[in-house]
Amino acid sequence: MQEGAFVVIQSGHWNYYGIVTDINLGATDPRFADEQTEVRFPAHIAKALHGQTLYANLEVLPNLMLEVGPDEGTPEYKDWQGKIDAGLKDAPRILPVKNVPPHHAVVSLANEGDIAEIFGDPNKESNFVIGYTREQNHPVCIDLDKFVQRSSGVFGATGTGKSFLTRLVLAGLMKHNQAAVLVLDMHNEYGFDDVASDTKKAVKGLKTLFKGGVRCVGLGAGSTIRGNQVDFNLEISTGDISTSDIETLSRELNLRETTPTILNALYGTFKDKWFAAFRSMSRDTVMIEDERGKTKEKPAEERGEVGAGERCECDGGGSAS
Ligand SMILES: Nc1ncnc2c1ncn2[C@@H]1O[C@H](COP(=O)(O)OP(=O)(O)OP(=O)(O)O)[C@@H](O)[C@H]1O
Ligand SMILES: [Mg+2]
Repeated sequence: MQEGAFVVIQSGHWNYYGIVTDINLGATDPRFADEQTEVRFPAHIAKALHGQTLYANLEVLPNLMLEVGPDEGTPEYKDWQGKIDAGLKDAPRILPVKNVPPHHAVVSLANEGDIAEIFGDPNKESNFVIGYTREQNHPVCIDLDKFVQRSSGVFGATGTGKSFLTRLVLAGLMKHNQAAVLVLDMHNEYGFDDVASDTKKAVKGLKTLFKGGVRCVGLGAGSTIRGNQVDFNLEISTGDISTSDIETLSRELNLRETTPTILNALYGTFKDKWFAAFRSMSRDTVMIEDERGKTKEKPAEERGEVGAGERCECDGGGSAS
């Protein structure tokens, strides 16, 4: 068994469904684990001894529980099912675990039916297979009808397959025509074919799979994605960049605390043209106040006398005067 295996724990009329979260070796006494008994004893004795003294512990996290009723075919089962059919008892449904299975409950690997019970029947129209269980290759689905009704996130350590899973889920939504999706793809991962960075295997992009069903937008004039032509180029006019856009990016751009003051001064002086005016400034540009208190650029010929503290530097340092 592996970590991540799905298991079923049987307890009377209830089944618990859980995941193996840890595996460790145990011994009834540390001596049996330390001593090489297989060298000291004949094989059959060593085997018998190991069978009694050495074992492995599986740590299981129970997630869900389901009432399965008495054994099928027994009179109790008929009675139980009869009550449900007659509406005297709610039909069993999967619930979050609220207690623990008792001692000595039987645990087994989840079979195909158990996996389908939890994740859905792969043959049902809106169920989309997103992968297979590790041990026995049983299909694992998500119900796309339900999936689009709520918010979802994919979490995991780096390299655990978040991007792969996201691409798969997006493909599922498109294949089943469930929803229109706007993807803000910061690293150009989903649109065009790519190569897996570790295995170097080719990975199909959504554009290849769904052709006209996918439109890729490149950011900036003439931009391409790994040499592929995009459907549109999104250009942002410098006039559309507001000072608050830059403030939002303070951390990413590594700007200092003086940034809001400088942005205010720039906006106050140049109004909507502030960004273009700022970009056309050089490192040596100095802003001054004229006699009526209006800010303006100090002419180049007068700059010699300016102290360092009065500089308006492009990296956001210093202070504007
Ligand atoms: N479902 C899958 N089938 C086959 N290979 C996979 C699958 N999921 C992940 N991999 C492999 O694992 C690698 C890492 O996956 P992925 O890039 O999706 O990780 P990530 O969690 O997005 O990482 P990062 O946090 O660095 O963005 C892939 O390059 C691929 O080789
Ligand atoms: Mg990723």
